Amino acid sequence: MPAPKGQSGVRVIPLIPAQDLAATGQRQIHFRNPPPLTLYVHVPWCVQKCPYCDFNSHALPGSAPAIPEDDYLAALTADLEAALPTIWGRRVDSIFLGGGTPSLLSGEAVEQLLTALRSRLPLLPNAEITLEANPASVEAGKFAAFRAAGVNRLSIGIQSFNPRHLKALGRAHDAHEARRAIEIAARYFDNFNIDLIYGLPGQLPVEALADLDAALAFAPPHLSCYQLTIEANTAFAAQPPTLPEADSCADMQDAIEARLAAAGYTHYETSAFARSGQQCRHNLNYWHFGDYLGIGAGAHSKLTLHDRVLRQMRWKRPEQYLAKVAAGTPLQQEFAVAAADLPFEFMLNALRLLQGFDAALFESRTSLPLLGIETALRQAERDGLIERQQQRIAPSDRGRRFLNQLLERFLVDRH
Ligand SMILES: C[S@@+](CC[C@H](N)C(=O)[O-])C[C@H]1O[C@@H](n2cnc3c(N)ncnc32)[C@H](O)[C@@H]1O
Ligand code: SF4
Repeated sequence: MPAPKGQSGVRVIPLIPAQDLAATGQRQIHFRNPPPLTLYVHVPWCVQKCPYCDFNSHALPGSAPAIPEDDYLAALTADLEAALPTIWGRRVDSIFLGGGTPSLLSGEAVEQLLTALRSRLPLLPNAEITLEANPASVEAGKFAAFRAAGVNRLSIGIQSFNPRHLKALGRAHDAHEARRAIEIAARYFDNFNIDLIYGLPGQLPVEALADLDAALAFAPPHLSCYQLTIEANTAFAAQPPTLPEADSCADMQDAIEARLAAAGYTHYETSAFARSGQQCRHNLNYWHFGDYLGIGAGAHSKLTLHDRVLRQMRWKRPEQYLAKVAAGTPLQQEFAVAAADLPFEFMLNALRLLQGFDAALFESRTSLPLLGIETALRQAERDGLIERQQQRIAPSDRGRRFLNQLLERFLVDRH
């Protein structure tokens, strides 16, 4: 998951604009211990731009598209070095190479990149290192090299096995390549994820289940099943396709959840399903409102300092990012999240988890007492949107279905 928005497939609604800490005149906050820290590396290029995609991804020019690897690796290294003082002494628990299409990088480039990261960061032994891959043949041919370079988890964007739906999604791969890519991934990786999208143009519930069954035939340790969303500033937003009715999408979601439960997968986050012990550690850290440093074009960071939570965004367009890093200014934006906004930001992540969170996690991640949101929690419980058991707070089935309405209750009214 893209760090929240733009990273790694984790889809969240956009952040409300947070105000500068000093301008809010609100209570001061103090963190005794920062949360776990992970690293996200964004690779902003793709072979072509898919019509539904609003990630920071740019089609490479030319008939034999190639990433400017040397320049980009040098920029990532400089970007990381400039960021080191902000995370000094902190251990990194996982790395996620997301995109865009990181599998466009050569095996050598991934090896060089991981070496550069390892030599500058105290990485947890056995850290989860994920790479997002597209299933086109040329990329699947590099999976063995990615494994040899130190990647230990592959996330493959299959989306569908149905030729009609792959075409509607404007995908660059066909169903045969999809199957072949998963076979190769399973050969080299104990741990891999398959991304599927349902609610596709003209899709019937039975077709969504056929996609799921095709994926299950490979016994993937992890599956992400996203409902297609029409995002602003995409080709689909400009010319919307005809999507299945909301009721039909709800039927697909129910059927997908039932089929995966029967197959032994735990549904642990809105769109994420895993076999026992195979939950994505990197994404779990986002949902636990942990910290992440994001490097690369358009990458987002969330970093807890002793008296504030910082958010950063790097320059988005690849050529702009390269120039700005060379000039020593990789950040396009940096601000402290107002203390009053932390409960909403925490909930935006933690309420995606089916098991919810403990009161103690809320307090350690926001440095605020749970008492401050007790009224909103009581009302949400009364309206059947959350369930509370001792210190644990979790979304109910209804809360999951109407997640945005549930989250709105934790927004601060600034008027
Ligand atoms: C960063 S994206 C792309 C990864 C990779 N480049 C690919 O296309 O396979 C990660 C995942 O987000 C999901 N996704 C992207 N846009 C979406 C949308 N509009 N609606 C639903 N899921 C989407 C897809 O399943 C995709 O695999
Ligand atoms: S290949 Fe992936 S990241 Fe690139 S445009 Fe398509 S969905 Fe977006």
